[in-house]
Amino acid sequence: MGELGLKRPAEPDMQEFIERIRRAIALETGLAQDEVKVEHPRDSSLGDFAFPCFPLAKKLRKAPPAIAQDLVAGLAIEEVSAEAAGPYVNFRIDRAALARSVLERIEAEGARYGGSDEGAGKTVVIDMSSPNIAKPMHVGHLRSTIIGAALQRLHESLGYRTVAINHIGDWGSQFGKLVTAVRRWGDTVELESEPIRSLLALYVRYHEEEESDPTLAEEASLAFQELESGEEGEVRSIWRHLTELSLEEFDKIYGRLGVTFDYVRGEAFYEPYLDQTVERIRASGITEESQGALIVSLEEVGDNMPPCLLRKTDGTTLYATRDLAALFHRWDEFAFDRALYVVGSEQRLHFRQLKAVLTRMGLEWEPRIQHVDFGMLRLPEGKLSTRKGQVIFLDELLDKAVAEARRIIAEKNPDLGEADEVAEQVGVGAVVFHDLKKERVKDVVFEWKEVLSFEGETGPYVQYSHARMASILRKAAERAPDPAARVDYALLEEAAPLLIRMGRFPQVVRSAAEEGEPSTISQYLLELCRELNSWYVQNKVLGEDLSLTASRLALVRGAKIVISNGLRFLGVAAPEEM
Ligand code: ARG
Repeated sequence: MGELGLKRPAEPDMQEFIERIRRAIALETGLAQDEVKVEHPRDSSLGDFAFPCFPLAKKLRKAPPAIAQDLVAGLAIEEVSAEAAGPYVNFRIDRAALARSVLERIEAEGARYGGSDEGAGKTVVIDMSSPNIAKPMHVGHLRSTIIGAALQRLHESLGYRTVAINHIGDWGSQFGKLVTAVRRWGDTVELESEPIRSLLALYVRYHEEEESDPTLAEEASLAFQELESGEEGEVRSIWRHLTELSLEEFDKIYGRLGVTFDYVRGEAFYEPYLDQTVERIRASGITEESQGALIVSLEEVGDNMPPCLLRKTDGTTLYATRDLAALFHRWDEFAFDRALYVVGSEQRLHFRQLKAVLTRMGLEWEPRIQHVDFGMLRLPEGKLSTRKGQVIFLDELLDKAVAEARRIIAEKNPDLGEADEVAEQVGVGAVVFHDLKKERVKDVVFEWKEVLSFEGETGPYVQYSHARMASILRKAAERAPDPAARVDYALLEEAAPLLIRMGRFPQVVRSAAEEGEPSTISQYLLELCRELNSWYVQNKVLGEDLSLTASRLALVRGAKIVISNGLRFLGVAAPEEM
């Protein structure tokens, strides 16, 4: 995993044009090269890049427009022309050079285009998905899975070693309740064939009956104590069985989403490390006893931050204790450069507290830990809650998306072969893309119509653009290829904005990984496809002029690669036909 290291090709890419511009400006002005900030002009008809001269005014004691004039007179940049416009110098890359550099690089790198080796030697640990055993993996965990897997792929393409860990919720007092429910009513449900639904039913029943039957809570509390004691008795064996059944169910979903983990380590995995974790924290001198419990006060770290509870009065540990154990374990094992926790925004305080404990311990690696939080996924009907059993099951959600995609395909393209396979790709892809479309902190409202539309800002729209390019290439291959047809990059003049966008892709990948923000990729793809589709409507690809056709086909090939790489990073399939 993560072995995508690659050499930079000798061909210039967008970055190299920018570097040339910055080098020349630095030489002319005496600025250091990294002080030279080059922007995109607001109006792209003015040029591809712009250098604002304002920051130089003080240093040179001249008005910015005069500086721009002088600068232009002295600049000579290979394949780039410069023009003064008021306080700006605008730069324009020679069109043929632009097309050649972008398309040759894409062609050379193919499926690796967008990646680099800048993360080589670095490790990123990604805590993702992390559903709770014996509860259905509901749509909230879907978001963590989808966002986490996208970050995993993005980092991999940048050469990082990625360690994806599924921090399954398989511990806590609710397991005492569940074991109790299984003992009492286990034979009223189809545990083996329908584990998740059955466990949910038991969970709901437990909470309904707990109010009228006090013996339930007593039994549940004893069961959890037995579990925590490590005793290899009936309780532990029921617990273990439930865990296995649930994991099998979760795996079906991961399979459909194409998601893999390096480790599935539930909270229970860290049980043996709890004592040493508490000791480690205690030894740093920051713990206090408070009403019989062991806590770390965090007031001084953040305004009014509540304390982190390490051990309750009865000696049992908490979610936070187990998370701290996991964190130390991961640090000791992987010495990570980044540790990303892809968990909903409602746990913001929890992760701030974890980081605050490390801060109080004086651990300098605390900033490497980042809570990659995200908003809720809501159905138009409202919020989802496990307690009352109002969940929608993930497999049902995916099935519904696929069925709907199947129906749309039958309507739009009745002759499509492999229609079932394509429907799975489009249905699942639509759900995934929808989830990654907006900035992750925003809530997502799941409107079926919006998710599956073939037009507008949707996964199927991007997939369809890809299939369209594939279809042009198929048609071109059917025509007898003419050996005299040469690509002439100068003929792609009108596609310059599109080519610039394609050339920016590596930068987009880098920024998406850095910010932990896959929506950067989805937004990029939507814009690329919009631009591509309007280019394609105005410029017939398969025409009479052989050289023009060959040149436009080169662009189509490049665009298809960029779209398919972008979709792959997101975890969305790119069908050749749909
Ligand atoms: N199982 C938890 C939940 O569903 C999420 C765990 C996230 N990961 C972590 N290391 N705390 O709320």
